[in-house]
Amino acid sequence: MNSDGQRTGRPRLGEPLPADLLDDAERMSRAELEDLQLGRLRHTLRHAYDQVELYRRKFDAAGVRPEDCRSLADLARFPFTTKADLRDSYPFGMFAVPMADVRRVHASSGTTGRPTVVGYTEGDLSTWADLVARSIRAAGGRAGHKVHVSYGYGLFTGGLGAHYGAERAGCTVIPASGGMTARQVRIIQDFRPEIIMVTPSYLLTLLDEFERQGVDPRTTSLRIGIFGAEPWTEAMRREIEERMDLHAVDIYGLSEVMGPGVAQECVETKDGLHVWEDHVRPEVVDPLTDEVLPEGAEGELVFTTLTKEAMPVVRYRTRDLTRLLPGTARPAFRRIEKITGRCDDMIIVRGVNVFPSQVEEIVLRTPGVAPHFQVELTRRGRLDHMTVRVEARTDTPPERREAAARAIVRGVKDGVGVTVEADVVDPETLERSVGKLRRVRDLRDAREPRRD
Ligand code: DLL
Repeated sequence: MNSDGQRTGRPRLGEPLPADLLDDAERMSRAELEDLQLGRLRHTLRHAYDQVELYRRKFDAAGVRPEDCRSLADLARFPFTTKADLRDSYPFGMFAVPMADVRRVHASSGTTGRPTVVGYTEGDLSTWADLVARSIRAAGGRAGHKVHVSYGYGLFTGGLGAHYGAERAGCTVIPASGGMTARQVRIIQDFRPEIIMVTPSYLLTLLDEFERQGVDPRTTSLRIGIFGAEPWTEAMRREIEERMDLHAVDIYGLSEVMGPGVAQECVETKDGLHVWEDHVRPEVVDPLTDEVLPEGAEGELVFTTLTKEAMPVVRYRTRDLTRLLPGTARPAFRRIEKITGRCDDMIIVRGVNVFPSQVEEIVLRTPGVAPHFQVELTRRGRLDHMTVRVEARTDTPPERREAAARAIVRGVKDGVGVTVEADVVDPETLERSVGKLRRVRDLRDAREPRRD
């Protein structure tokens, strides 16, 4: 891919982190890390049980006490926590410290019902900044780099999480937030950041704006993109790296556990995301039977926080689907495979399971269409019907659109096994992202799908 060092005279990026820049936890052996996890886990279970009524009730109902956790495997004896539990405790019922010790709250948007509120002590905020800083270094960022943050600032954890982490890493932050796309492009041109932190879908919006302004995106100062907050595929990585000449790496997180920086892909391997296991304990469970699955098996990701003070979470069901894999670039920390989708993102069309990420792979390898697409679900008679709406590239002649649509229909039929309709529409007619993009419009019961 990219030729950064030689072409621009900048320091080479995309190389492994020098050992002296690793955190202490990043140098631990797996055994040392698991020792640390067990001590922290026992403390967390006790803290949650003593301070949060919901945990006391749930542990009692399951007949387990914090002291029953004698090994990491014992965690499986404890009850799960769900989004519904957090909603029912709205707004502050999950807090485990006095309100005076809660220095900040965030909330997840939640398109239906109440949002879920999360709280942080000063210590929690500091840990969060440390982990985002560690993530930025893993992505190839170094002190002295300029970081353009286009994640939204506000109740969403993306903007402020990235912001304080980048400061902690010794970077210069450009707090752009989401929106005002033309101005963002101007600022990137003028301030010359090396790093951008943004949702992959908003990056695509920015890319189009570069082109609209007559700027070749490959000529910008950007060398590293740290993309997350929504699923994106390997095909999207190729598309972005090709069009921008940067390293595109994945950052994962969720507000209930912390925010961005729960797991991060290392730039030298780009092989899934290392979970920062000194602060969280991941499990993967079968979403239907709740059984803990072995390493390598795909299921729902579950997290227990190990150091959270204001709002510890025990076995939180993320709804995200992935598998746990052994560590590579950071051997003690296990990885999660790129998230393929969420349990509730899965569309069932005439009995076939379809994920928007599968459609993304197909759209991105179809000549003549742009990476902007939407999936629409309707009911025709008693049957579910799925339409993939994709924008034509600006240089695609109208007569080529039919062939592109046919290629998508064939791709979905062969790759996923379901018959869909494809509609190749004019450029710049589909909804653009300024943050997290909603790919699926479910019009089957004239109601929108839950996104959280
Ligand atoms: O999206 C935190 C975040 C901000 C992560 C910025 C990365 C960058 P929530 O709004 O609570 O928090 O949404 C969490 O977003 O359960 C996943 O479904 C999805 N998600 C987050 N990161 C990724 C990713 C933030 N890298 C929910 N790949 C999670 C796929 C992701 N999905």
